[in-house]
Amino acid sequence: MVKDELLLEYLPKTRVYSPEELWEYAEAFTHVMLKPSGGGGGAGIIQVTARGEEKYLVHSGSRQRLVEGKEATIRYVESLFRPKTYLLQPRIPLGNIKGKPFDVRVMIQRRSNKEPWVITGWCAKLAGPGFVVTNVARSRGKVLPIQTAIKLSNIKAGPHLLRDIRMIASAVANRLGRVYPTLREIGLDLGIDVDGKPWIIEANFRPSLALFQKLEDKTFYKRIVSMRKR
Ligand SMILES: Nc1ncnc2c1ncn2[C@@H]1O[C@H](COP(=O)(O)OP(=O)(O)O)[C@@H](O)[C@H]1O
Ligand SMILES: [Mg+2]
Repeated sequence: MVKDELLLEYLPKTRVYSPEELWEYAEAFTHVMLKPSGGGGGAGIIQVTARGEEKYLVHSGSRQRLVEGKEATIRYVESLFRPKTYLLQPRIPLGNIKGKPFDVRVMIQRRSNKEPWVITGWCAKLAGPGFVVTNVARSRGKVLPIQTAIKLSNIKAGPHLLRDIRMIASAVANRLGRVYPTLREIGLDLGIDVDGKPWIIEANFRPSLALFQKLEDKTFYKRIVSMRKR
C-alpha cells in the first residue's frame, strides 16, 4: 500500500521495533502503539505513553502500569511481547464515545478478479471498557452502525467523511487486488481521528462475519454472505 501515492497519506508511519526506535517514537509522538506483525484479534498489542521524566505508561489488554526508567520500561514491554516481529506506529487519536475508542470495519468483496470490487458492508467497532484496542471479541466491545458511532463521538466529521472512507476502501482493494490476484475479500480496519481524518490500520484477508451478525440490521450481513457464494 505504501507504493500507492494516494494511500500513503492515510498510512500511519510504521517501523520495525527496536528500543532505539521506540524512544524516537515516544519523543516524537508521545503515544506509541507496538503491534506484532501478522497478529490478529488485537492480541499482543501494547500502548506506550511518555509521561515525562523517564516515566512510561504501558497499557496492554485492560492492564496499565507506570514504569520508571528506560531500561525497566524496555524490560517490561519486551516481557509482554509475543514471539513475533513487532512494529511501531504513532497512536492515532481515534475518535471515541465517552472515552471508548472505535474504528471502522469496511467489507470489500469481488466475485472474481475479472469483476469489480464492491463495498458490501461497514460498521463501527467500539472498544470495551479500559481497552485501547477495538477488537470486539478481545475487548468485549460493541458493534454500531457507522453513522451512529460518528454522531455519538467526539469526531469533527467533515461533510465528505463517508465518501472518503469509500474512496480509501476502493483504492486499498484495487491496490491489494493487483498484488493478490486470487483475493476476493478484504476486511479493512480504518481509524478516524478526532479531526475526522481516516487512517488505514489493517487489511484482513479472512475477515470474520461476526461483526455484521451483531448489527441489528442484517442487510450487510446478507449481502456479504451472498457475495461469498459462487
Ligand atoms: N496506530 C494505531 N493507533 C491507534 N489504535 C490502533 C493503532 N493500531 C491498532 N490500533 C487499535 O488496535 C486494534 C487492533 O490493531 P490491528 O492492527 O487491527 O491488529 P489485529 O490484527 O490484532 O486486529 C485496531 O482495531 C485499533 O483499535
Ligand atoms: Mg484488526
